[in-house]
Amino acid sequence: MNFKVKNDTFLRALLRQPTDYTPLWMMRQAGRFLPEYRATRRKAGSFMGLCKNTDLATEVTLQPVERFPLDAAILFSDILTVPDAMGLGLYFADGEGPKFERPLQTEADIKALHVPDVGKDLKYVTDAVAQIRKTLDGRIPLIGFSGSPWTLSCYMVEGGSSDDYAKVKTLLYKEPKLMHHVLDVTAQAVTAYLNAQIEAGAQAVMIFDSWGGALSHAAFHEFSLAYTQRIIAGLIKEKEGVRIPSIVFTKGGGLWIESIADSGCDAVGLDWTMDIGVARQKVGHKVALQGNLDPAVLFATPEVIRNEVEKVLSSYGYGSGHVFNLGHGISQHTDPENVAALVQAVHELSKKYH
Ligand code: CP3
Repeated sequence: MNFKVKNDTFLRALLRQPTDYTPLWMMRQAGRFLPEYRATRRKAGSFMGLCKNTDLATEVTLQPVERFPLDAAILFSDILTVPDAMGLGLYFADGEGPKFERPLQTEADIKALHVPDVGKDLKYVTDAVAQIRKTLDGRIPLIGFSGSPWTLSCYMVEGGSSDDYAKVKTLLYKEPKLMHHVLDVTAQAVTAYLNAQIEAGAQAVMIFDSWGGALSHAAFHEFSLAYTQRIIAGLIKEKEGVRIPSIVFTKGGGLWIESIADSGCDAVGLDWTMDIGVARQKVGHKVALQGNLDPAVLFATPEVIRNEVEKVLSSYGYGSGHVFNLGHGISQHTDPENVAALVQAVHELSKKYH
């Protein structure tokens, strides 16, 4: 398949087609570990100011791919843009992470929840996608993304980050119908949002289920995976004759890898807790795998990084279907020199497996 991009290694690996080496990108690659990101962020004044400024969002998306020979770029934005567009009022309090001015607290709040007008309320995101695609000029593919309905609901109900998810889990167990209503509306919003990103030029999409691992086995399937599955079923699968692969990342989801692989996605993202070779045996030829180096490895030396990269590569073994990544986002305290060592190690050491 012609993917209309010079370096199509990432897209080929997602579809388990042969490649010369294992492609890689890093979750949160555009972020605070880069001094150039911190400078642009200061210029923008606020995080949402950065997301909403097309030129600056394009600039920070390109920063990691200018510095390192990464095999994909990811749209610079945030998963919480969707609840913001649903009227919850996102803001970032200094040092406290994301917060909502109007979290879902009452039954009335939940019943009033609506699918946003993606073309209007999230136009700043699709504008960024279009400009990033133009600026990349076919060098490497661009990934679009969204949060999963469950992960977004965690923030919408808790009003921000949480240690124990007490509020959202209370809703789930005490008022399952209301919980399903939140998830249903959010799933519709996410489907429209990802399709708008695809229409604007995203060449692959990723769903972040960062807090799926906080759920019990039964609750994960009923309240998280079922909605992810519904979104995937509603996604645009092909644009202008080119396949648009989808990736599902569930942090703490190793136990459920088989059912995640059955969701209809093309690839499953793994955190660092699972052996990627064991994961490969479990999913067989159904999906590609993305992951799964512990981001803390990047606090060590280039020699240690090389060793740990080899462990992940050899565990996956021979053949295509592996996109190298970290098991979660890169830490802001990472030395960029160590990222250079990581990229070089993956590109060099993976050739023998292809
Ligand atoms: O990966 C990338 O480079 C693309 C950009 C991206 C961001 N957030 C930028 C960001 C992506 C894909 C996300 C996803 C995201 N956002 C997730 C899912 C992935 C995961 O980490 O599990 C989640 C849960 C969020 C919600 C969110 N946004 C939190 C909890 C925070 C605060 C985190 C922190 O470290 O302070 C954000 C803010 C945020 N999103 C930052 C960046 C670069 C840092 C804020 C800043 O620069 O001031």
